[in-house]
Amino acid sequence: MSSDELRQVTIFDTTLRDGEQSPGASMNLAEKLEVAQALVELGVDVIEAGFPISSPGDFEAVQKVAEIVRNVEVCGLARSRKEDIVAAWEALKHAEQPRIHIFLATSPIHREHKLRKSPEQLLEMAIETVAFAKTLTPKVEFSPEDASRTEIDFLCKIVEAVIRAGATSVNIPDTVGYATPPEMSERIKSLIMRVPNIDKTVLSVHCHNDLGMATANSLAAVMAGAGQIECTINGLGERAGNCALEEVVMAMKTRSDQFKTRTNIITNRLAPVSRLVSTITGLRVPRNKAIVGQNAFAHESGVHQDGMLKNRSTYEIMTPEDVGFQKSDLVLGKHSGRAALIDRVRSLGHELTPEQVDVVFAEFKRLADRKKEVYDADIVAIIEQRVQQKTTMTWEFVSYELTCKTGQTPNLTLTLKRGDEMFRQFISAADGPFDAPFDGPVDAMFLAVCKLTNIKMQCLEYTIRSVTDGSDAQGEVSVYVDNSGRRERGQGVSTDVFEASAIAFVNAVNRILT
Ligand code: KIV
Ligand code: ZN
Repeated sequence: MSSDELRQVTIFDTTLRDGEQSPGASMNLAEKLEVAQALVELGVDVIEAGFPISSPGDFEAVQKVAEIVRNVEVCGLARSRKEDIVAAWEALKHAEQPRIHIFLATSPIHREHKLRKSPEQLLEMAIETVAFAKTLTPKVEFSPEDASRTEIDFLCKIVEAVIRAGATSVNIPDTVGYATPPEMSERIKSLIMRVPNIDKTVLSVHCHNDLGMATANSLAAVMAGAGQIECTINGLGERAGNCALEEVVMAMKTRSDQFKTRTNIITNRLAPVSRLVSTITGLRVPRNKAIVGQNAFAHESGVHQDGMLKNRSTYEIMTPEDVGFQKSDLVLGKHSGRAALIDRVRSLGHELTPEQVDVVFAEFKRLADRKKEVYDADIVAIIEQRVQQKTTMTWEFVSYELTCKTGQTPNLTLTLKRGDEMFRQFISAADGPFDAPFDGPVDAMFLAVCKLTNIKMQCLEYTIRSVTDGSDAQGEVSVYVDNSGRRERGQGVSTDVFEASAIAFVNAVNRILT
């Protein structure tokens, strides 16, 4: 089927709004801007950058994204209230292509228990606020929240009314992930059949993944005629998340014979963007995740490997290169030069400034001294740690000395740097008292970082994974800490996991301080 015969589907990305509502996925301003830029390069049509009235931080993020990104619509969320819409507009007004997204719950459960309003009152609020938003900007989206549990007659009525009031897109959210694909399809078909002015708007879907059906529901809606999908990178979002962008996009591309649709997504940017969002949010992509998981293109069984060697199409419906994984995991070593590294960095989808190349090259050389072979994943880890972690480096790890033995409390001397000044902390069992007794070397590292920086933290999560295979692999440590109610993440990568742990804790402290 030629691409001219395929219907265009708008990709509305809400990683920075619904995705950021995932527990533990909050991003700072610099990180949001970096994700926004990556989304532009990925080719999304709309970026929902936040919910401006919800906090000053959200307002600023929407405002900065609106000012900076080009060739994409920037959207801000608002409840069906004048003050929300004014705040959304204030944040969006410098965008090249602004869109205001108004939502109002319509299901009986939400009407009775949350809003305590009658259908007539909601209808009036929806019409009034859409009409008001239209006085500010031409692109207005309306979402009847919990649409999948709203009576179809009332849904048709409110959709018709908001289109008359000027809504240029009407989104049908499955807010609690309750719908099934046949129900979603039926709902979209009913709206298309029963709402007389439906052709004046773009019908959209926004599916949550509580029952693991977000992708299937979104695709069912598209097959029934929806023209926009709201989705997030890696399926981030409230509770079990939203529909994963990479899944719907690759489903529509790989099975265009079925869906008869196309998108503007540059699919070989999917894996790098997925990796970026995962690093920034600290939410790891499971190895077996469709499209962007590490194992998505790995063939383990002998029968499969034999088939692959004879003809890749035996077990591969898409190629790794289609989604941005590299065919060859080319190995670099300590004799590899700057040009080889730059070439590799580019083919991994990263454009670095000459100053950033200096930093990455120096770190690469250090790593190549410690590790025989440097793989793509090692290079990506260096870029993430040295270039993408934009946090101001108030504190920096310098070195440690550790002695430990089974059954004994370790002795540790940790040295950190702030500006040009060095700070050293010795801790041992006899050195107490600490707020809590400490145990192994990682705990000692944690306490030493707290003492040196004078930041009291509680460690909520500590995870470690190896960046590549082999006993000389780099260890990547991710921590999630609490500082009097403020929760932050930190990451560290090194061939020495104690060093990686110290770097991760220091990184978390720096985030707390910014
Ligand atoms: O899930 C939902 O209903 C939403 C709306 C704000 C669109 O996120
Ligand atoms: Zn949602």
